Amino acid sequence: MADAPLPALLHRLAAMLGPAGVLTGADTAAYSEDWRRLYQGRTPAVLRPADTAQVAAVLRECAQAGVAVVPQGGNTSMVGGAVPSEAGDQLVLSLARMNRVREIDPIDQTMTIEAGATWKSAQVAAEEAGCLLPLSIGSEGTAQVGGILATNAGGNNTVRYGNARDLVLGLEVVLPDGQVWNGLRRLRKDNTGYCLRQLFVGAEGTLGVITAAVLKLVPRPTEQEVALCAVPSVAAALALFTRVHRHDPAAVQAFEYMSGPGMGFVLAHIPNATLPFAPAPHYALVELATPRPQAGLRAALESVLEAAMEAGEVEDAVIAESEAQRAALWRLREEHSEAQKREGASIKNDVSVPVSRVPALIEQASAACLALMPGIRPVPFGHIGDGNIHFNLEQPLGMDPAAFLAQDHAVMDAVGEVVRALDGSFSAEHGIGRLKPYMMPEWRGGAELDLMRRIKAAIDPRGLMNPGKVLP
Ligand code: MLT
Ligand code: ZN
Repeated sequence: MADAPLPALLHRLAAMLGPAGVLTGADTAAYSEDWRRLYQGRTPAVLRPADTAQVAAVLRECAQAGVAVVPQGGNTSMVGGAVPSEAGDQLVLSLARMNRVREIDPIDQTMTIEAGATWKSAQVAAEEAGCLLPLSIGSEGTAQVGGILATNAGGNNTVRYGNARDLVLGLEVVLPDGQVWNGLRRLRKDNTGYCLRQLFVGAEGTLGVITAAVLKLVPRPTEQEVALCAVPSVAAALALFTRVHRHDPAAVQAFEYMSGPGMGFVLAHIPNATLPFAPAPHYALVELATPRPQAGLRAALESVLEAAMEAGEVEDAVIAESEAQRAALWRLREEHSEAQKREGASIKNDVSVPVSRVPALIEQASAACLALMPGIRPVPFGHIGDGNIHFNLEQPLGMDPAAFLAQDHAVMDAVGEVVRALDGSFSAEHGIGRLKPYMMPEWRGGAELDLMRRIKAAIDPRGLMNPGKVLP
């Protein structure tokens, strides 16, 4: 409950931020609903500060008035992590106007960038400086630096470069009381007490607002090869990963798994999507890349695939011959979420298990879901090289979408039981958001959740930062 009347606060904020800095009425609609359309929130205003000082002023005013703030990047959360509640009393804080690259240093291999820049624009800026910003996700054209860090996004290159948190050297954060912490250091070694930046990465905006970051860059690859493979089973896809990885771990840029049904949805719903060979029960997408001159990646990939074919791990394969073909093969993977959305309602389980247990995960979770709901359509896909599978489920044909979604907890629990038995996690890269706080006591209860609550209480004692997210 706010301490001061909201209209007075909004009046002060509008005077401070100017006309470009506040959206109200119909202009707030796109900020109030999540990408999956699971949540339809309401907000009296979307605040759009132009710099860190304005973010600090906004948080100070909101803290004084006791009004909650929901930080929002590109609003591409899969778990409703950036939407305001239905009550209509939380202000959305959009960082979109803070999108400048402050500095790129090709010798330090770092980029200092503001939180509201899209990840794609950060990638392009790195490329122009002859470097690579090594994290890639389907939503990178819309997702922003701040959101990617706040949610510790993973994506397609985790297998080589780690998650978002592995790319962060420094952060600038505005705390809930309006203090600014300038931790924009670009040091590779800095062993000076608690690692505060890692507290804010993955906190999903519940501890403060990331306004800028120093990100690690790597040398830009000069050779790159992408292959799509038809494989007979999940076990074969894993065997192929092991083979490719053993051959040259430093060159494996991505290794993705897709199922026959998921690919079927892409072919059915995504314009101009075509397979380069006959439909298969399972697929693997391999990307190799290296900055090494004359590395001979093409020949290496061909010989590894040949050996894999002889071993029965691969039934058919196509290596892209051009940049356009590479993009077309990747599109078959990247459009999985969109295709699933167009096919109907889906329940997502972004789970991880030890890499060796992925075949067991897919087999056992499929069986558990089918036993729970005959006709349900499992669509597992994703980052098999990290043990992170999107064990998504499409509604049974003809079922009412709302009736299907009403079963989401039962379905997620059935998958969760399998994941737990395999020593996995219920959220590998999408985070907790608003969808999964209820799972926290069961999965992270006891000392772990207690510690998280104490950290939250110490930094945001009044619970004004992104309420209802992460912690139950
Ligand atoms: C992806 O990797 O494409 C997304 O994280 C997956 C999803 O839709 O669950
Ligand atoms: Zn993913």
